[in-house]
Amino acid sequence: MSNSKHPSIRLTGDGSPTVQLPDSEVTYHSIHGALTEAKHVYIEQGIDSLDVPKNRAIHVLEVGFGTGLNAALAMLWARDHDRTVHYRGLEPYPLLASFWDDYPWAKWPFDVSTCMKRLHAVDVNTTETFFEKSTFRLENKGVEDDLNSEDLYDVVFYDAFAPSYQPELWNRQLFRKLRESVRPGGILVTYCAKGFVRRNLMAAGWDVLAIPGSPGKKEMLRGVNHPVSRFNVRVYGVILDAAGDRILVCNERLSDGSHAQKFPGGGVELGEGILDAWWREVQEELGCRPVMQSAELFHSAEPFVRSAFRKEEQVIALYYLFQMHSDEGNIWTEEPANSPGGELGVKVSWKCWKSLDYRTFRFLTDQTAVQKLQKFDGRISQ
Ligand SMILES: C[S@@+](CC[C@H](N)C(=O)[O-])C[C@H]1O[C@@H](n2cnc3c(N)ncnc32)[C@H](O)[C@@H]1O
Repeated sequence: MSNSKHPSIRLTGDGSPTVQLPDSEVTYHSIHGALTEAKHVYIEQGIDSLDVPKNRAIHVLEVGFGTGLNAALAMLWARDHDRTVHYRGLEPYPLLASFWDDYPWAKWPFDVSTCMKRLHAVDVNTTETFFEKSTFRLENKGVEDDLNSEDLYDVVFYDAFAPSYQPELWNRQLFRKLRESVRPGGILVTYCAKGFVRRNLMAAGWDVLAIPGSPGKKEMLRGVNHPVSRFNVRVYGVILDAAGDRILVCNERLSDGSHAQKFPGGGVELGEGILDAWWREVQEELGCRPVMQSAELFHSAEPFVRSAFRKEEQVIALYYLFQMHSDEGNIWTEEPANSPGGELGVKVSWKCWKSLDYRTFRFLTDQTAVQKLQKFDGRISQ
């Protein structure tokens, strides 16, 4: 990426200006409203949503300083709320000095433009005081070159260019390093709500919520660095029928009262063997102990997965493959049925795995098991 050609200025939906890269549709802000987006994503859902005691300073890292709009809004927020903010911006491709010659400063509220101008007057790698107790510092480097930082931030403003333009800035490794630079309970906010970005953030350990985005954008993402302190080991069975066409799924009422489609199985208790735990769960859920061909471990969900119910737990999910003997399993039908003698609230049915939509399973780990079964066309067992 290089800014050798001059970017242009474009007015956005709320009348505030943004920057557009030469020969492209890539802009620094939402074309529906630069100021509205920055206020919503980084101030209201970012710095203003933090639970930091009033007497403690807030440390902000911005990835993609650009015009300095987010930084100016954060400095003004600190002034208006009588808070101390230590702001560090990263920008490997700063706008050239000549870019500002024709810049429409008057399109911004007066205090925003005044603050942006002051930010641009600060020399790189120099920490300058703003509004008596806050500080600002800009460094000309990319986030990927800044991952050994020992600082602990309260919030990361993740304002890189869209993944379609800079896909390398939205990967799991980078998000993991960023999480390690954020204090427990700290957050990352970004305007981007793409599914793969959300999954990469989650796989990097962030507890991610898609929340309403700024006008013109349905959603944005907010990740919280909830510390993880325990493993939650779970074991499930993918049970094929005798012909190998269908698998047995449970529809179960969960502890939070919701219903979910899942594989038979559940949590391993301390002191319990993994397959012992599986047979215990199966006995509870199916109400019987079917005779099946021996079990084979075929899948362990690989990315980091946080428990949907207990945020401090990391789920380790193992999937075993079984196959029914010919006349076993006739007690279940295609339609969900209350399992004969099984747990109240569990409905068991056969489903053709080839046509099964993995998204009908509630848990990510189950989804990856279905995808694996389909990827290998059911030929997982030797
Ligand atoms: C969407 S714009 C950010 C807009 C900016 N926050 C503002 O208020 O004007 C993305 C910015 O990320 C910068 N950028 C590009 N590569 C980067 C990298 N590797 N690390 C950090 N920032 C990067 C771009 O130069 C650009 O200024």
